[in-house]
Formats: sequence, C-alpha cells, structure tokens
Amino acid sequence: MTGNAKRAEIEAVGITGDEVMPRHIAIIMDGNGRWATARGLTRTHGHRKGVDALRKAVRHAADIGIDYLTLFSFSSENWTRPPDEVRELIGLLKLFLRNDLAKLRADNVRVMVIGERTDLQRDIRDLLDEAEATTILNTGMRLVIAFNYGGRDEIGRAVRRIADAVKAGRLSPEDVDTAMISTHLDTAGIPDPDLIIRTSGEQRLSNFLLWQAAYAEFVFLPVYWPDFATEDFDLAIAEFRNRDRRYGGIAARRSR
Ligand code: FPP
Repeated sequence: MTGNAKRAEIEAVGITGDEVMPRHIAIIMDGNGRWATARGLTRTHGHRKGVDALRKAVRHAADIGIDYLTLFSFSSENWTRPPDEVRELIGLLKLFLRNDLAKLRADNVRVMVIGERTDLQRDIRDLLDEAEATTILNTGMRLVIAFNYGGRDEIGRAVRRIADAVKAGRLSPEDVDTAMISTHLDTAGIPDPDLIIRTSGEQRLSNFLLWQAAYAEFVFLPVYWPDFATEDFDLAIAEFRNRDRRYGGIAARRSR
C-alpha cells in the first residue's frame, strides 16, 4: 500500500479535516516477556518476536511518511536483567544491525543512535557507529535507536558537558537556557516527539525521553509488543490526530 493510500485509510478511521500527522513518533516496545510467558515460551522467544514487530513498525512508519521514529530498544536500567537476557537483547540488536542495515540504507532510512556509548563493548559501538555513518546521507525517515539510554542519565551527561564548558570559559552561566540545554542532549537536532506510544498496557514513561516528552501526546495500547500490528500503529496515530494540543496555552492547536 502506498503512503497516500495509507493516509486515506487513517482518515477513514473517523477523523476529518486537516489535523497533521505526528512528525516524530517514539515507541516503548513493552510486553515481549509477558507475550512469551502467556504462551508457555521463553522470554527470549518474546524478544525475537519483538524484532519482527519492530521491522514491521519501521517499514510502516516509513511508508506513511513519518519523519522520525524513535525506538526504546535497551534502557540504562536493563543491565539489571539476568545476564542471559541481557546477552540475548544485545545479540538481537547486533543481528538487526548486521542483517537489516543494507536494506535500511537502500530504503533511504537514516539511522541515529541515542544513549551512552562510551561504556559499551567495542563491537557494539562499532556497529552503532557504522549504522550511523553508512546512512548519514540518507534523506528519508530517521530511525532513532535508543540503546543503553536513560533520560536522567542523558540529562546528567548534558549538564556535565555544560558545566565543563562554563569551567573552561567557553560559556557563561547566563547562556544556559532550555534551548541550549536541548543542544547538549543526545537528541540535539532531533525535534521533540509528538506522539509516544507504549504497548503492553503499562502507563508510565520509564525514564524515556524525559526532557523531550514535555508536550508529547501519549497513547497506551493494551497489546503486547510482539502483537503490535500496523492497525495498532494507525489507531495510535488516529488517536493522536484527535487530540487538542495546547502547549500550556488556551487555544487548541493541532500542529507539530
Ligand atoms: C520490553 O519487553 C522490551 C525490551 C526490554 C526491549 C525491546 C527489544 C526488542 C523489541 C528486541 C531487540 C531490539 C532491537 C533494536 C533489535 P519486556 O521484556 O520488558 O516485557 P515484559 O514487561 O512483558 O517482561
């Protein structure tokens, strides 16, 4: 289905008028473990199915013209999971980058990575660097992979960089405002998310994009991530398009 046909289908969900599509969608892909447990399978099985759902979501987002898709693939807190599961999640990321990078590049997708990279094993760092470097000239959808990412950690690193710059005399304390803080985050240059989707029925942010989510719309879906289908994606977008965004003001605004 073409992007235009898909847009028409979303309109048909019941929303009319000129409400805009979200420019940046971020997803907390939750529920792999519960999906597997409910079927008597191992959690590993759930994560593997989760990668299939991830591929479909990336394809669909690109098809319908989303500019930025951010996926929470591994949090800075996920290291506390059993070592086997951590190994599996990291292994899946490596596999995904090795197997899918050529196609992403051919599809004009630009891969970007947020999260702390300095402490990662060399081979993962190299793969993440390669994914960014080999797609840097792509002009289509930006796929932002949040890996070893935590919102508080990111803000802490930004504050440290700003403090260093002040100490070195490159910045004065008066220069510090919200716009300049944004430029020191991992997401510098990336617009704030318009829509944050979380699957699995949980309704919390779990340290994801804390700063950037200030005016995001949230859609929580009662579906485990491996079952997340394009219909669920469209439903979340339709819900977003039906929201009034006021950004702290009083006039309803449906804009990016
Ligand atoms: C939450 O499910 C999901 C994750 C911790 C990470 C999501 C990972 C993938 C979709 C696969 C690997 C990623 C890439 C980029 C290839 P959970 O384990 O917390 O589920 P539960 O809450 O039901 O236990």
